Amino acid sequence: MKTVFITGSSSGIGKAAAEYFAAQGWNVAATMRSLEKAVFTDTREIRKFRCDVTDEASVRSAVKEALAAFGSIDVCVNNAGFSLQGPFEITPSGDIRMQYETNVFGLMNVTRELLPHFRAGKKGMFINISSMAGRAGFPMYSLYNSTKFAVEGFSESLQHELRQFNIKVKIIEPGVVLTDFYGRSMVHQESGRYAAYDPYASAVIANLEQIGSRGIKPEAVARIIYKAAVSKNWKLRYTAGPDARISTLLRAVLPFGLFTRLLRSAVEKGVRTTL
Ligand SMILES: NC(=O)c1ccc[n+]([C@@H]2O[C@H](COP(=O)([O-])OP(=O)(O)OC[C@H]3O[C@@H](n4cnc5c(N)ncnc54)[C@H](OP(=O)(O)O)[C@@H]3O)[C@@H](O)[C@H]2O)c1
Repeated sequence: MKTVFITGSSSGIGKAAAEYFAAQGWNVAATMRSLEKAVFTDTREIRKFRCDVTDEASVRSAVKEALAAFGSIDVCVNNAGFSLQGPFEITPSGDIRMQYETNVFGLMNVTRELLPHFRAGKKGMFINISSMAGRAGFPMYSLYNSTKFAVEGFSESLQHELRQFNIKVKIIEPGVVLTDFYGRSMVHQESGRYAAYDPYASAVIANLEQIGSRGIKPEAVARIIYKAAVSKNWKLRYTAGPDARISTLLRAVLPFGLFTRLLRSAVEKGVRTTL
């Protein structure tokens, strides 16, 4: 029986992935920073482990406990993440650090901890949850965008050095997914602080909220994560959702200036274009 280790399993995509892998007969190490959320009761297939990806000691014990419980780990889904939204200039440096600690360094912490196990077994897979915001820059998302660009660059490079050990790297790029991401997991600056950036900032953020209210279900992303997990090939990127697919396609085929103008105008007008 194969085992998947998932970060941020308390809600959204991570929770849906844990349930989907378990339904396919996998063992699931469903890790989360607060076990009290108790979205799963432990079953034979799904076991919960505490793991705050920003805390190296917590990552170390989660990997150790999952290995003790299941004997081996085949796939790691680096999913934990959240978003900062708003103008860069007014965002406190502590918030920016936490954005990077979670979305970038947290993902690296988990990757580093699992690598010796994967190398020893001469196989393994990292599935890193990026975003369509890892391929295109959106207004009012400079910090989140930059972390997902970092995840893309890290993964794209890492795949080369891990290939010799038969360890695969996959990137999942969802568009809008209906989870807690646009709610409790979104860190906004107080709108009264937008100052020189208003009324632009307030209008764009209102439009982004509207765009974020329509998307695919996390279960649809879970199916794509699973497809990546069982694939035998070395394909790196998987988009999830029509918006992610269209934006990636347009970015590839349009001149960059035209693409970015279209994207800006879509967000500024509040149109759900799928950009
Ligand atoms: N929803 C979208 O539209 C969308 C689109 C593209 C990409 N994504 C990406 O998908 C991933 C999952 O997000 P989601 O949409 O499923 O949102 P979500 O429902 O808010 O889930 C985020 C998860 O990350 C966990 N998390 C946050 N900080 C953590 C930390 N330090 N250590 C461990 N876990 C932590 C949260 O745990 P708590 O419950 O403890 O807060 C939660 O389980 C994120 O990487 C996000 O960037 C989402």
